[in-house]
Amino acid sequence: MNSFDFSSVKQIVCEPGAVKNMAAYCTSLHIQRPLIVTDAGLVQTGIPNQVEEILTRGGIHAVQYSNIQADPAESIVFDAVAFAQEHAIDGVIGLGGGSSMDVAKLIALLTQNQQSLASMYGVNKVTANRLPLILVPTTAGTGSEVTPISIITTGETTKSGVVSPRLLPDMAILDAELTTGLPPHVTAATGIDAMVHAIEAFTSKHKKNVYSDMLAKQALTLLSQNILAVVEHGDNVTARSNMLLGALLAGQAFANAPVAAVHALAYPLGGNYHIPHGLSNALVLPAVLKFNAEHAKNQYAELLPCVKKHVPQGLSKTQQCINFISTIDNLVSEVGLPRSLAAMDIPHGDLPKLASEAMEQTRLLVNNPRTVTQADALAIYQHAF
Ligand SMILES: NC(=O)c1ccc[n+]([C@@H]2O[C@H](COP(=O)([O-])OP(=O)(O)OC[C@H]3O[C@@H](n4cnc5c(N)ncnc54)[C@H](O)[C@@H]3O)[C@@H](O)[C@H]2O)c1
Ligand SMILES: [Fe+2]
Repeated sequence: MNSFDFSSVKQIVCEPGAVKNMAAYCTSLHIQRPLIVTDAGLVQTGIPNQVEEILTRGGIHAVQYSNIQADPAESIVFDAVAFAQEHAIDGVIGLGGGSSMDVAKLIALLTQNQQSLASMYGVNKVTANRLPLILVPTTAGTGSEVTPISIITTGETTKSGVVSPRLLPDMAILDAELTTGLPPHVTAATGIDAMVHAIEAFTSKHKKNVYSDMLAKQALTLLSQNILAVVEHGDNVTARSNMLLGALLAGQAFANAPVAAVHALAYPLGGNYHIPHGLSNALVLPAVLKFNAEHAKNQYAELLPCVKKHVPQGLSKTQQCINFISTIDNLVSEVGLPRSLAAMDIPHGDLPKLASEAMEQTRLLVNNPRTVTQADALAIYQHAF
């Protein structure tokens, strides 16, 4: 058995309608003047205003910052911190997808004026204390509500991560009623992202452990059995709740057993063409699974019963592995996502540049069950083309 060091969020509430108790959650953390961090898309659903009204009725005066954009840039973080300081907030509520939650985590640290953002990038570089922090995901994808990670766009096409246990919030709230209006294509892409977190945690080369395995299997079961239901019937609260829980469990798994080549090859797609994170993952997923098959055969075989209810008896490990990969491949088609880099209008001539950029993701590539060379990365992109 691998030695391990497992940590996660202290309090998790999973209940449809849970945000109705937001004033009590704030009070329990001594928050009187929270900043709600969200984006314009979510503002259109009316959810941030509902949360603000709930807080006002409970005697808590909140302010909203709703300028978060997908794959948030550093400039957004600085703007949000200036806004937070202007309003003398004493706690942060991240309400939205990974983009809003990732910025919320950094606001809670940076408003204290104890450390610069530049000195926080990397692993365990944070020394600043943070304000009380509550995270409320409205996509079932990144699992950011339980990861010690914040991903920020730092260059034209590059992202950097702050990784520190201080980014784990005080509380994560899963309220499926907030996710019923998530459009089908976002539901599909974010759901596949969560499935990739579970799969890559389960095959993670160095830090895979008994907890992350357990979480990854349960996550993959919940996600694969509910993703079609939520894409086809967005208002199915039970299926939405299962997806939120699956994404959270996958987040806990990969926070402790990190993701690998699917994410490493997906990042250049997001950076160069602004393809959403979940969709970038979906585009390279089947090709990476096939590339890994020989080296992760037993692990993929072990995951087959999670994604397929009725597994025929007597299959060899190789057959189970092939069956797992084709089941995932079919699922990506069934949820209606684009299936190739060509379909995304990515020029074929860009593939060598993408392969070279993917090789820079050493933090992720070391976790892959099979070593990935630049020639391998190029072959995977060609396969995904
Ligand atoms: N911190 C982590 O551990 C971690 C892990 C993976 C990815 N990420 C980061 O997370 C970001 C991606 O997050 P995401 O995939 O959740 O997408 P997102 O936060 O960018 O949101 C995508 C879109 O969905 C809309 N939306 C969200 N909830 C909605 C709802 N309930 N109803 C209607 N519309 C809604 C938003 O307005 C937005 O337009 C990227 O920046 C990625 O790098 C972070
Ligand atoms: Fe991801």
